[in-house]
Formats: sequence, C-alpha cells, structure tokens
Amino acid sequence: MFLRLLLRRVLAVLVPLAITSTIYLYLYPLFHACAFPLPDASPSNHLSIPHLSPAFLTTLRHHLSPSPSSASPSDPPIFRLLVLADPQLEGDSSLPKPHEQLPARLSNYYADLRSSLRTKPPSATLSTLRSVLHNLLHDDLPRTFRAARKRLDLLGNDYYLAHIYRTMHWWSAPSHVTVLGDLIGSQWVSEGEFEARGERFWERVFRGGRRVEDHISGVEVLGEDEGWEHRLVNIVGNHDVGYAGDVSRGRMERFERVFGRGEWDVKFQLPSSSSSSSSSSVEGEEGEGETPTIHLINLNSLILDTPALDPAIQASAYEYLNELLDQRSAPVTGDRNRTFTLLLTHLPLHKKEGVCTDAPYFAFHEEDDSQDEPRFYAGGLKEQNHLSEYVSANAVLEGVFGMSGDESVPGGGWGRKGLILTGHDHTGCDVVHFVNRTVEKDEDEDEDKAWGWDAMRYRELGSGLEKEKRMGVPAIREVTMRSMMGEYGGYSGLLSVWFDGEWRYQIQMCAAGVQHVWWAVHVLDTVTGVLLLLVLILHLLGGSGLASGVGVSAGKDTRPRQKTKEQ
Ligand SMILES: *[C@@H]1O[C@H](CO)[C@@H](O)[C@H](O)[C@H]1NC(C)=O
Repeated sequence: MFLRLLLRRVLAVLVPLAITSTIYLYLYPLFHACAFPLPDASPSNHLSIPHLSPAFLTTLRHHLSPSPSSASPSDPPIFRLLVLADPQLEGDSSLPKPHEQLPARLSNYYADLRSSLRTKPPSATLSTLRSVLHNLLHDDLPRTFRAARKRLDLLGNDYYLAHIYRTMHWWSAPSHVTVLGDLIGSQWVSEGEFEARGERFWERVFRGGRRVEDHISGVEVLGEDEGWEHRLVNIVGNHDVGYAGDVSRGRMERFERVFGRGEWDVKFQLPSSSSSSSSSSVEGEEGEGETPTIHLINLNSLILDTPALDPAIQASAYEYLNELLDQRSAPVTGDRNRTFTLLLTHLPLHKKEGVCTDAPYFAFHEEDDSQDEPRFYAGGLKEQNHLSEYVSANAVLEGVFGMSGDESVPGGGWGRKGLILTGHDHTGCDVVHFVNRTVEKDEDEDEDKAWGWDAMRYRELGSGLEKEKRMGVPAIREVTMRSMMGEYGGYSGLLSVWFDGEWRYQIQMCAAGVQHVWWAVHVLDTVTGVLLLLVLILHLLGGSGLASGVGVSAGKDTRPRQKTKEQ
C-alpha cells in the first residue's frame, strides 16, 4: 500500500528526529554544561571544555550515584541558589472580555433576529441577518480564532516556564531558589484573576515549589532545613504590586497572601563541622571570630522612591531597612570575610545611560490618569527603570552594604561583602558599583565631596573571579538576571557561595532556548505519535486477508517509482 510505504519513510526520518530533539530539550542543562560552579574550579577549566569542568562532572556524578561518598574537595558548594527572573504570567488581560466572546455574541444575535422577526417586516429581518453574518465572518470568528490561539499560547508558555524550573531544579540540585519579581504580567488584574494566576504559578509553573512561611527564624544553620530546596524566595515586582505610585495595602496583601512576604531577611550560618574542617588551616589564629554567615535579604525596592501612593507603606519600608541595619546587619567594623550579604530585589540600581540596556527613566502619574483607575495618585511614581540615584546610594550601597568613599567612616568605607541580584530589565546586565574618586563635580555639589558612585560592566574589569575585589576601592557587583521568558531565551542563573576562610561566590548563566524550540519539539512529538498510531492501525487492518492482498500488489507497483525518485 502506497500510504503505508510513505508513512514508513516519513517515520524513518521523524522518529529519530523526535527522539533526539526530545532528549536535547529535556536534558538541556547537560548539553549546555550547566552546573553550580565549584569552589576549586579555576576559570581556565571553564574556558576550555565545559563538559570536563569539575563542576559539571560533580553534578553528573551526583546523578549517577545519588548517595554521596565521603567529603571530597569537589563537593558541591554549601549554598547553591537557583536564580530566576520575570516569568510574568499573562492571562485574561490579553484575551477578549466576556461580552466579546463568541457565546455572548451569538446569544445577542439570536435575540436581535427574534425580535426583528416578531416586530419588523421580512425585508428588515433579512438585512439584520445579513449584517449578523457579516459581523460573524469579519469580527467574531477571527477574534475567536485569535483568542483560541492566545489561550493555547498562554498554556504552552506556562508549560515552557515549568519545563525550565523542573529541569534546572532536577539537574542542578539547588539548596535555595529565588524568583526576582514580576511573577505575573500585570498589576492591574482583578482579585479573581490574581488568584487564578497565583494558582497557575504554584500548580503549574513552579509545581513542587512552596511559599516561604510568614514566620521564619532569623538565624538558621545551612543544610539543616532541606525545605529550602523547595521554598521559592519570591521578590515583589512592579507587575505584582505596582510602582510606588500604585502600591496600596490591598495590592501588598494579596501579593503576600499568595506569594509570600514582601520584605524579610534570614541568616544562614555555616554548620560548625564544615567551617572547622574546610578551613582548619586558616582557622587556628582567627577561630574566635563569628560563625561565618550568609545574610539573605529580600528587599521590596518598589516602595523606596517617591511620591508614593501610601506614605505609610513607604514609612514602614524604611523602618524595616533601618531595623535591618541597626539590629541584624553585620557591623562594618567587624571581619568582612565572615558575612556574605546577598541582596535580592527587583529594581536594578541606578547607573548611567549606556552601562546596561535600560537607561535611567522615571515617569509620574498625570492628573487625569485617575479617570481609568480611581486609586491612582496624581503625581505619584508611575514607572522607573532603576532605583533613583539617591536611593541606590543611600539605601543600598551605603545602607545595606555600608560602603562609602569617605575613608573616615567606620570600617574605612569598605562596608560588607556580598552580591546584589536584581531583575526587571529582561535583557540582563552584569556591573560593578564602585567608588570613583575622580568624578566630575556638579556646580551644586558638596565642595569637599571628592568621590561619587559609578558603575561599569563587570566584563570590562578583565579576566578572573570576583574582580571587584581587586579594584582597590569599595565595590560591589550587581547581576541583573536575564528573564526566564521564552523571548529572552529562558534564562536561569546558578549562584554558588562557599566559605574557605572567607566567603566566595561564582555565578553561571544557563539558557533553555526560545519557546519556539519547546513548541517545535512538542509538535514534532505529537505528529510522530499520531503517525505511529496510524501505522499501527494500518498494520492491524492489514492483518485481515483482503487488505493484505491489496497491500502486496500496491507495494509491487510503487517500488520502481520510488527507485527512479532516488536516482
Ligand atoms: C571616574 O569618573 C570619571 C569622570 O566621569 C571618568 O572619566 C573615569 O573613567 C571614572 N573612573 C573609572 C575607573 O571608571
């Protein structure tokens, strides 16, 4: 039978293609050599053959023999953070309103026609019918078709994002996970839609993930509570609660109820055994020091700039920040090597135009914006690309990190060691904020202030690890995480932090590829599956006498034709 032969030839191509592309898609971190960087990995190893890097091999070994052998120098680092940003789950705002959907429209048309039949002459009814048909063909059906496509798109997008989280979590085995804000795609959604997106977030995209509890103890020992592998440290994004000019109690409450608290911090201490064993050589003289600690801070940066819709929310945000600095942050006069301050927040810090994709940008609500949304605050902060220069410097660089260009401040201005992780700009960026002592002075600036904050691309600092430490001035790195959305390549970051006498870190990026690859593989698998089923059915039918007779004679006929094609 010609059909069967054709199917067999098509499947001979499709089946291997489907299998290899599916293996590639479902094991993408292996093909990209993604793994949490290892303490002892020298950068040259990564540059040569990534699949032979100790980090990759250690992860592979972890999967091949799940029970870890005794501690070896290539053990995975103690703190492994899977970093994701801006999933931006879309929803009903990109679909037609209920009264525009086909069932509602059809019942409207039906009512029109009936009333016209009852009350008007037949000619009028006929013209009503004509206009109904016209609307159906030119408006309703195309809109319904577009909406159906969009629904499929949204569903596929959920599973694409889920694929990234599930695959990366399984392969890389993080100890902690964070999503750096913009969990959903719009702050203007209704209560019902917010709940619906929350459900999709937890049940579909981040299935297996858990909301961080409202009450966590302030100090924990690393590795003691394995629940952190599945808790999602969710950061507040502007599409979740709005910018300062939109953030209301109601918006914050619904975010915190569904996704977890908006600002909190926790200290993870190194277990005493590992701090003494891994660094026993250096420990001798400074063993009296504080327990090495990672101070993880989840900061709501959306409420720090002004004017805010609700000044009380802003005031409590600054209260939190002050309490953090007064009571929980490590003193800047202490041993800088013993605390690693990891700041997670949505909005990137201020930097000049040209350093990252986004330039500084601020927009404010107009008086008449309030017509669309009564809760708008005229003049309130409507949009921002970065934190303002003032908040970046005061709240973050000089606040959370206690740094300064003024050498006479406590700690000489060196502040706290650590790293800043942000989201928001979608394209990603990697910079160092540092004290520049040769800045040009504005005419209105302090006469004796001979320094300013500056930022430059991390890669411009040359090669090596933790390059900001070699700049000779107070400096801190900020990694703006590229979005996990398909159009940006489905990125995730793997941040390792470990202690070897001092805290050290390294971060690697890992891309899943655009969503079209995900779609193509699944369409290919579906088509292959359907064709295989068809072959099976034909085969079963072919078992009966009559059909098999036809099959043999048809086969004879087609064979020469196929040969000529191949020549
Ligand atoms: C410091 O600022 C000055 C003036 O803006 C600039 O020329 C210089 O390159 C900056 N220094 C560094 C290390 O970037």
